[in-house]
Amino acid sequence: MSHPTILVTRKLPSSVEQRLSKSYDVRLNATDELMTAEQLVESAKGADGLLVSLTEKFSPEVIAALPDQVKIMATFSVGYDHINIPAAIDKGLIVTNTPDVLTDATAEIAFLLMLGAARGSTAGEKVLRDGEWGVWSPTGMLGLQLTGRRLGILGMGRIGQATAKRARAFGMEIHYHSRTQLTPEQEQGAIYHATAEELLAQSDVFSIHCASTDETRGFLNAERINLLPQDAIVVNSARGDIVDDDALIEALNSRRIWAAGLDVFLGEPAIDPRYHALENSFLLPHMGSATRETRDAMGHCAVDNLDAFFAGKTPPNVVS
Ligand code: GLV
Repeated sequence: MSHPTILVTRKLPSSVEQRLSKSYDVRLNATDELMTAEQLVESAKGADGLLVSLTEKFSPEVIAALPDQVKIMATFSVGYDHINIPAAIDKGLIVTNTPDVLTDATAEIAFLLMLGAARGSTAGEKVLRDGEWGVWSPTGMLGLQLTGRRLGILGMGRIGQATAKRARAFGMEIHYHSRTQLTPEQEQGAIYHATAEELLAQSDVFSIHCASTDETRGFLNAERINLLPQDAIVVNSARGDIVDDDALIEALNSRRIWAAGLDVFLGEPAIDPRYHALENSFLLPHMGSATRETRDAMGHCAVDNLDAFFAGKTPPNVVS
């Protein structure tokens, strides 16, 4: 019996590739080389479905150029801002994502960023790696403590709530803004702010957990940064384009804010080079979901979506 054909655009964890190979005629990417838009469209010829990642940009033009035989695009990510959803809907293409399974890993990275930024880890590590660790000093290497500080969460979805849960254990006071207010059971004492601006003014640590959309792109600009308390910390484990880099770099340089912890960047991997020299920035290369457990689970979640679709059912994680 012939199996549906699936084009997989990136190298995936081996258990996921093995599972795909059992149920599909699968075109894997053993070298993990990125495909150009043209290569993607060419390679999709004869495929019934695509398993893609956030490194491919599906503009309306790319989606329109995909062969009509392609009926489903399962992205190996929770975010789907790299896919133009209206164009996918026009094309009759089902798009699925991988929510839930990366919640804990991403909340852990948000905490790593928070601690790294608050405690000046970049400067501390540099001293040590440069062989310049002098004598211990009662007044040297002073950071800020998270205990008792107010954590402002922008976007209180799954990852925002998982970050809040960890913050409670650190003795932080939780504030948030979201499109909708949570129930008291979900809030667990977190304080809701009706506007993001009100939240900014109450955030000693401001952590971004919303999706990148037309409304949130460029959200953290100079005007909004100025609403933050002096010595605030900015954390971004969501999407780089939510932050205005010029404004954040200026605030870090001028010490208007204490520090930033960033895992995601506009135009990544070609990030604004001014970040490199900023010792009050703690930087990671988009590693939020990068644990062995989570990457396996994301792959299996993407395959669950494909399996449901090709079994004639509604996939569990449809976003279009
Ligand atoms: C990672 O950034 C994801 O969206 O899964």
